Amino acid sequence: MKAIVCQAFGPVEDLSVQQIPEPAPGADEVLIDVASVGVNFPDALLVRGLYQVKPSFPFIPGIECAGTIAALGKNVTTFTVGDRVAAMSPQFGTYAEAVVVPASHIYPIPEALDFDHAGALLCAHGTAYHALVQRAALRSGETLLVTGAAGGTGLAAVQIGHALGAHVIAACSNDEKLHTAKQHGADVAINTGKDDVRDAIKSLTGGAGADVIFDPVGGDLAKSLARSVGWNGRWLVIGFADGAIPKVPLNLPLVKGYSIVGVFWGSFCDRDPAQAQTNHGQLFEMAASGKLTPHLHAVMPLNEAPCALSQIEQRAVQGKIVLNP
Ligand SMILES: NC(=O)c1ccc[n+]([C@@H]2O[C@H](COP(=O)([O-])OP(=O)(O)OC[C@H]3O[C@@H](n4cnc5c(N)ncnc54)[C@H](OP(=O)(O)O)[C@@H]3O)[C@@H](O)[C@H]2O)c1
Repeated sequence: MKAIVCQAFGPVEDLSVQQIPEPAPGADEVLIDVASVGVNFPDALLVRGLYQVKPSFPFIPGIECAGTIAALGKNVTTFTVGDRVAAMSPQFGTYAEAVVVPASHIYPIPEALDFDHAGALLCAHGTAYHALVQRAALRSGETLLVTGAAGGTGLAAVQIGHALGAHVIAACSNDEKLHTAKQHGADVAINTGKDDVRDAIKSLTGGAGADVIFDPVGGDLAKSLARSVGWNGRWLVIGFADGAIPKVPLNLPLVKGYSIVGVFWGSFCDRDPAQAQTNHGQLFEMAASGKLTPHLHAVMPLNEAPCALSQIEQRAVQGKIVLNP
């Protein structure tokens, strides 16, 4: 089969296309014939050696995909060959024509949802849903501020926050991205390239601050966010796309009575597979019924994985890129 292979940590441009033997599923695993692969920011971190996990070489990147079950391990009884599924791959490997994943990490997809949208939905929307529903307990009518709001996880949080009845404030670095966030459910927008972020949040929340902040960016922006969370608020730590991990003076959550809440979708799927099944089922239902539609920035051939990752690193992607093997 064809796969994108990483031989050593380094630039995403060094990834190569190779022919390798197709893997066989173990007893509790399934083999998926991959139709579409979601490209994610953490894939680039993994290839550069900057991710929490450092696989041994050679390895195939990729944590999500959608496709058809091609073979079942001997203990797998809840699925059949030919089922349409999305999959989260804890050991990576989805940048390929086929991948083996644990049966606990595959999710049936409705007929109404095509493979490209299903393949784009798990990581970004799964993270945003878990963050907003389980970690923040976001309530209808609350104010949700989303940074990087036209990116993968950010745009997903805008869509899900809007669907849950929140008043969504999108923060992005330019007007084109803000336009996209508004098209997907943001009520108001802050241009982080022009506006004073702290003043803008203050004015848009009548001085109260945001009830929930979904922050995949980190970096300098966090200095403003740390002073912009409302009483009983929840600041969701999603990631550090900026590259810098912010340091927060802990007197601020104390005096302002807010919580800083960590979110790790990958560990959540491993630790609580039953809740992950429920979450992802909800998401697929929302997508199939038109309540939310993942925004596909581009659909590219698998061979162009380095180019897709490079665009993410250059901050040039809105929503998601998917790869077709
Ligand atoms: N916690 C979890 O479970 C989880 C799950 C998935 C991803 N993540 C993490 O969340 C972060 C964002 O992921 P994503 O999928 O949303 O990424 P993305 O699609 O690339 O979006 C990230 C956004 O961050 C902003 N940004 C600011 N500085 C940047 C820089 N130097 N390079 C790139 N983007 C920059 C950009 O928005 P503006 O231009 O508007 O500022 C960009 O749209 C990453 O750190 C990723 O590892 C965490």
